[in-house]
Amino acid sequence: MQGKNIYVSLGRKDILHGVNFKAEPGQVTAIIGPNGSGKSTLLKALAGEIDSTGTVTLNGHDISALKPWQLAEMRGVLPQSTTVAFPFKVHEIVRLGLATGLVASDDGLTSRALAHVDLAGFEHRSYQTLSGGEQQRVQLARVLTQVWEAQQADQPRWLLLDEPVASLDIAHQFTVLGIAGDFAARGGGVVAVMHDLNLTALFSDCVYVLSQGSVWGSGTPSDVLSSDLMQQVYGIDLPISKVPTTPLPFVLPQAVRKPLEP
Ligand SMILES: Nc1ncnc2c1ncn2[C@@H]1O[C@H](COP(=O)(O)OP(=O)(O)OP(=O)(O)O)[C@@H](O)[C@H]1O
Ligand SMILES: [Mg+2]
Repeated sequence: MQGKNIYVSLGRKDILHGVNFKAEPGQVTAIIGPNGSGKSTLLKALAGEIDSTGTVTLNGHDISALKPWQLAEMRGVLPQSTTVAFPFKVHEIVRLGLATGLVASDDGLTSRALAHVDLAGFEHRSYQTLSGGEQQRVQLARVLTQVWEAQQADQPRWLLLDEPVASLDIAHQFTVLGIAGDFAARGGGVVAVMHDLNLTALFSDCVYVLSQGSVWGSGTPSDVLSSDLMQQVYGIDLPISKVPTTPLPFVLPQAVRKPLEP
């Protein structure tokens, strides 16, 4: 998946300023950056969900030339937040993924997808009664049913995930990022917007750093997660160390409590 020279304007505001982006199948590509830097906007542009200039290609096809059903077969999108206005049951939400992905029959997929996200037996619960983290995992199950096989006719499928672990406890963060890694290991491609730098280092193969609508760095986690770049982008001191016996970086900020200025 590739985005070349992507510009997006929303309202009267220029949000993305000529972003170049490339994600490889078989890899998890993370997008990090401060609030408002344009991560969700970039993910939507890559998904073909908003107008942008420049080109986005998916498996070599310009997405502007693909029909909605062709796009739906090739990539599933987990939005940053999802509002469900009607009193749907969990299995009805997950089944929406099947309908989007044009899979003919359920064949137990709804239950398997729910089991994957550690929600076995939740099929008949009312979505509104679930906790925030449970709702988020139901949404992921919906996207998984859409692109269950990581490849189709030797072509990779894509998972585009906007903050997939934002409201999850640490164990479920590992569950969900493990699912993303497994999808990539089966030949699919994953693009995930992330805030947690340590999880990004642990689970991604490639990282894009977005700031003020532009790419400020890209490469492996060890290339990109440097104190200098993090200081430039986030504006705070983030000491970076290495996980012993690995090349993996980790961030351990010093919490210095200062009284607030009056
Ligand atoms: N419809 C819109 N009209 C005007 N500005 C918008 C619109 N949608 C988004 N923006 C602005 O675009 C910028 C980028 O938004 P985006 O949602 O891509 O940020 P983000 O990097 O995903 O941030 P976060 O980490 O908070 O999710 C923000 O400053 C936001 O206020
Ligand atoms: Mg966002």
